[in-house]
Amino acid sequence: MDEHEQPRTDPADRLTVTAAPSGDASEDPATSLLALPWERPLEDWPAEVLAALPRGISRHVVRFARMGAGVVAVKETTEELAFREYRLLRELEDRPSPSVVPVAVVTGRTREDGTALPAALVTRHLRFSLPYRAVFSERMERRTLVRLMDALALLLVELHLEGFFWGDVSLSNVLFRRDAGGFAAHLVDAETGELRERLSTGQREHDLDVARVNIGGELLDLHASGLADPDVDAIATPDLFVESYRQLWQQLTEPTVFPRGEPWRMDRRFRRLSELGFEVEEYSLRAADAPGMMVAQPTDVNSGYHRRSLERLTGLHVQENQARRLLVDIEAARRSWDPFMDMDHAAHRWVIEVFDPVVRSVPLELRAKLEPAEVMHQLLEHRWYLSEARGQAVPLDEAVDSYVETVLRARRDEDALAMHPTTTMLRAVPAPEADPEG
Ligand SMILES: Nc1ncnc2c1ncn2[C@@H]1O[C@H](COP(=O)(O)OP(=O)(O)OP(=O)(O)O)[C@@H](O)[C@H]1O
Ligand SMILES: [Mg+2]
Repeated sequence: MDEHEQPRTDPADRLTVTAAPSGDASEDPATSLLALPWERPLEDWPAEVLAALPRGISRHVVRFARMGAGVVAVKETTEELAFREYRLLRELEDRPSPSVVPVAVVTGRTREDGTALPAALVTRHLRFSLPYRAVFSERMERRTLVRLMDALALLLVELHLEGFFWGDVSLSNVLFRRDAGGFAAHLVDAETGELRERLSTGQREHDLDVARVNIGGELLDLHASGLADPDVDAIATPDLFVESYRQLWQQLTEPTVFPRGEPWRMDRRFRRLSELGFEVEEYSLRAADAPGMMVAQPTDVNSGYHRRSLERLTGLHVQENQARRLLVDIEAARRSWDPFMDMDHAAHRWVIEVFDPVVRSVPLELRAKLEPAEVMHQLLEHRWYLSEARGQAVPLDEAVDSYVETVLRARRDEDALAMHPTTTMLRAVPAPEADPEG
């Protein structure tokens, strides 16, 4: 320090928040974040500013804090790493692969006595998300395990298609959200990632190797703390994940060889991909080695086909499987209203006459249990079971009442599962009996 310079004592002097403007000054993240006690180590933040939410294990100190009307995750790390991860997450924001949304980097933190504190990365708390330990605290059926591995494999395929090399694929670096009976995995920790034009096979294989080792280790940890069922195999489960990844990758990228005169074979292939939730944005077509044959190969594939279709039709922002499920329901409604009605019109009417009333009929005190699209999905399942049992279609209103009372009320709150960071409290929450997902 220059000898003429006065030592600074006000921690606010050097505090810098780097964030994108929100477009609404009253809710600007940089301004709202200044209200948090940055002059104290994250570990010592007072309960008034914190939100008690389930948190995975981490090397860094991570806390959930209230910011305006929302909740943010704050991670203490070095300035360099915080900016690196922030910029990567910002780039991923515009891509279809689901990841947590970055809010800001806070630097220049000092204590009252002037000593330096680590920088912090702030991300938006992902609502209704479950760390894997919370997912495992429920009775884990093999079916559920397979779905978890499929969700993680899908996320890695999506990221690899975007040219994202992760470097640290693991269960604790993702968050899971329920997605129409399955799960959707979201990337939460991008610290080791790199975004490239495209990935080599070697880079993808490296991520798979890392994933295999990490998932195996995490399952052994779960066994050691008594959280996983004995039949959750720490060796075979990572293989489930790798198989799921390879199968999907192959379906999305392998070439189709077909006779020159049968171009519809290509369309059929592309339609299969959209059923899987992927849209071919670009493909290459060339003559095959064999005479009279052609080779078509997708060169740019985007995930989120159903998600985007539903959003275009209804403005609803949901996850892929939920979107797939809701689109089926809109189509069924359309046919029952008028087989000649167009899909835009039907979707609009469905939101007003079906979706909104269902969401509104969930009593306020039960709204933290599940997100609306998942409620809608479960309700549709419930109505189907009721109708099966009765041998005739059960009206929507009746199904809603029955669902709310017998299924939803019995669930734990997943949006605000209050718990201790050690996972033991999770075990005290019994798996609800009437849960159609088991
Ligand atoms: N935006 C968020 N929403 C919900 N939970 C979050 C969010 N950010 C972090 N978490 C929780 O905090 C945990 C730790 O975060 P993260 O993995 O980024 O830190 P870390 O593990 O210390 O980093 P590293 O893996 O480099 O050591 C996550 O597993 C997750 O449970
Ligand atoms: Mg991590």
